[in-house]
Order: sequence, then C-alpha cells, then structure tokens
Amino acid sequence: MTFLIINGPNLNLLGLREPDIYGKQDFHALEDFIRAACEEAGVGCELFQSNHEGAIVDAIQGAYGRIDGIVINPAAYTHTSVAILDALKAVAIPAVEVHISDVSKRESFRQVSYAGLACVKSYIGLGFEGYRRAVLYLKDYLEGR
Ligand code: DQA
Repeated sequence: MTFLIINGPNLNLLGLREPDIYGKQDFHALEDFIRAACEEAGVGCELFQSNHEGAIVDAIQGAYGRIDGIVINPAAYTHTSVAILDALKAVAIPAVEVHISDVSKRESFRQVSYAGLACVKSYIGLGFEGYRRAVLYLKDYLEGR
C-alpha cells in the first residue's frame, strides 16, 4: 500500500511562516514526521509539495493506477480550487484532508473547503499530528473496504 502526501503553497516555508499559527518546526521536520508516520503504519509514501495549482492537479492525476491513498493539505488552494476537487474526484483515490491550523476558527474565507468535498475525512488544527492520524485512518479505511 502506497500513499501520496501532497502539501500545497507556502507550506515549504513552515517555521518561517506565521509561527504563531503554524508552529516553529520547518518543512523538513514535517517531511520527517510524515515518513515516520507512514513507517509506523507500514505503508509506503511519496511526498509532493508545490506552490502551483496545476502541478498539484498533475500529481493527483499521476497517482491514478499507482497510489492507494492520498493525504492532502492543499493550503490556500483548499478554499479556491475547483480544479483540485475535480482531480480528486476524477481519480477517485480515497483521500484525507489535513490542515495544520484550526481553519474553523479563522477568517470566514477559510471556512470553505473544495478539496474536502472529495475527502473521506478531515483532520484540522492538530498540527503535524493531523498527518499521522490521516495516514492511520486511511490505512484502516482501505483495509476495511
Ligand atoms: C492551511 C490553512 C490554509 O487556510 C492556509 O491557506 C494554509 C495552511 C493549514 O495547514 O492550516 O496555507 O492549510
């Protein structure tokens, strides 16, 4: 079982970026954390980060026939991207949405999640731990099908 973990724009600037909201750990720390979570779950993982909407759509399309589950933090594209929603629906690979911050308690424009409409579960406001929970949930979900 192999998962694709997608991180969207500006998440590469973790640590530098609004540390009061996103924490002081950098993106390399997040990647290490996700790799460890996948190892704990006994699943293979591919990590992908991009600041570009089309590149994220390409990564989702490229997962078809190859990847069993997707964990996605589309970052700001969460709230704007019908293209990412449509890509997730097109490939129909079970996906779980993650947000480091608690978007439900932030600005009103962050209350909408397009990608979330194509996800079987969302983990919001748990910091890095949300990715671990997403990986474990997705594994159980896929094994239970
Ligand atoms: C985020 C929340 C989004 O609203 C924001 O645009 C991000 C990060 C999060 O992980 O909390 O870039 O997805």
